[in-house]
Amino acid sequence: MGETAKIILGDKTYELPVITGSEGEKAIDITKLRAITGHITYDPGFGNTGACKSAITFMDGEKGILRYRGIPVEELAEKSTFVETSFLLINGHLPTRAELNRFSVLLNDHSLVHEDMQAFFTNFPRSAHPMGILSSMVNALRSFYPKLDGHSKDQDIVVQMTRLLSKVRTMAAISYKISMGHKVVYPRPDLSYCANFLNMMFDSPVRPYKMDDDMVKALNVFWILHADHEQNCSTSAVRLVGSARVNLYAAISAGISALWGPLHGGANQAVIQMLKEIHAAGGDMEPFLARARDRNDPFRLMGFGHRVYKTYDPRAKIMKAMVHKVLAKLDIHDPLLDIAQKLEEVALRDAYFIDHNLYPNVDFYAGILLRALGIPTDMFTVMFAIGRLPGWISQWKEAQDDPDWKLHRPRQVYVGKNENKYLYMDERLEL
Ligand code: ACO
Repeated sequence: MGETAKIILGDKTYELPVITGSEGEKAIDITKLRAITGHITYDPGFGNTGACKSAITFMDGEKGILRYRGIPVEELAEKSTFVETSFLLINGHLPTRAELNRFSVLLNDHSLVHEDMQAFFTNFPRSAHPMGILSSMVNALRSFYPKLDGHSKDQDIVVQMTRLLSKVRTMAAISYKISMGHKVVYPRPDLSYCANFLNMMFDSPVRPYKMDDDMVKALNVFWILHADHEQNCSTSAVRLVGSARVNLYAAISAGISALWGPLHGGANQAVIQMLKEIHAAGGDMEPFLARARDRNDPFRLMGFGHRVYKTYDPRAKIMKAMVHKVLAKLDIHDPLLDIAQKLEEVALRDAYFIDHNLYPNVDFYAGILLRALGIPTDMFTVMFAIGRLPGWISQWKEAQDDPDWKLHRPRQVYVGKNENKYLYMDERLEL
């Protein structure tokens, strides 16, 4: 037996195996714990719980490292495209030229959305949040696209994965066009994945969209930075829901719902709202910082802090540099960028933020980049969701293929009443 951990309960000592990951991280294997000791573990928020073994993404929160399939995210942001990075995440290796061509052709072939689905988009109330719409529509995909006759399970999964990657992007653009009361723009076979999205969003019969390679690059980088982040809240939701062996669309729809939350993907929208409030208050950030420091106030500085990163989020660094590039190219001066930079500077010198290891996360500069690209604020989290799709898909696929895979069913420490008797209505005391 290799390395073990000893656990002493009463007068008994139990030995548990220790697993070592490929980057040297250690885990105590407690799979037999309850069977041999009768005890379970208690870990609200799962901060100490490894729920799976995964070969997809490595992150080191202390050193600020993020790699997809071993490749640093910095290198992918500089050299890759979102489509290539998606292939890498899902298949485990960079595609050859032929593989990439095949993948691009498949994405193009699946880019249209069933015409009948448009009725759903039109019938949502105008005030509906795009994340609610997206999660419902992704769940509806199984009804519109049932399993094809003659397709094996594996073929069906490949079709589901490509369909999702391609259609979610089209669906996001459709919901924007419909919310504006504009004519829907269809995907074009001559445009790349990211260029197609920008065209579907912004092309109009009275103002044809002028494609700019730098904006296409910026969108590629934005989506690459969001493509995966190991076992975060939404990915865990996808894995948990997927563990019931539900179809991929339903599992992804659960991930989209989780991502909607302001403590997770919803933070990119919340950051912009916060920066706007600071701007409206004449740029005085001290009251916001004071509220963030106050333990009795639930307010948090949005775009700051991370469950895993206890240093600068490597994605935030790249995002910040990209924001500067895009604003310079478009010759835009965004006062929210000035506020964000000042806020970062002040917070990084502030004892509270230093003591709590609070640094900007990916969402801090993301909103400013999206604003510059013309994306409306309430679609920011949808942009995150499109980016995270290859991650969710690859994690779902890894889980489905995992021989150790089980239905997720955590336990609890029950702290409620002991056995209690039913009282008839006239036996109950009026409060
Ligand atoms: N502003 C002020 N204080 C903060 C912040 C913040 N943004 N984040 C954490 N803290 C403080 C907490 O108040 C707590 O203080 P205390 O120990 O004195 O009570 C301490 O830091 C630890 O906070 P937790 O909530 O336990 O830390 P956790 O690891 O769960 O938090 C989270 C991670 C949820 C991201 C948190 O930092 C936060 O709420 N940030 C703001 C929202 C945000 O930007 N979310 C996006 C995250 S990135 C992503 O999902 C893509």
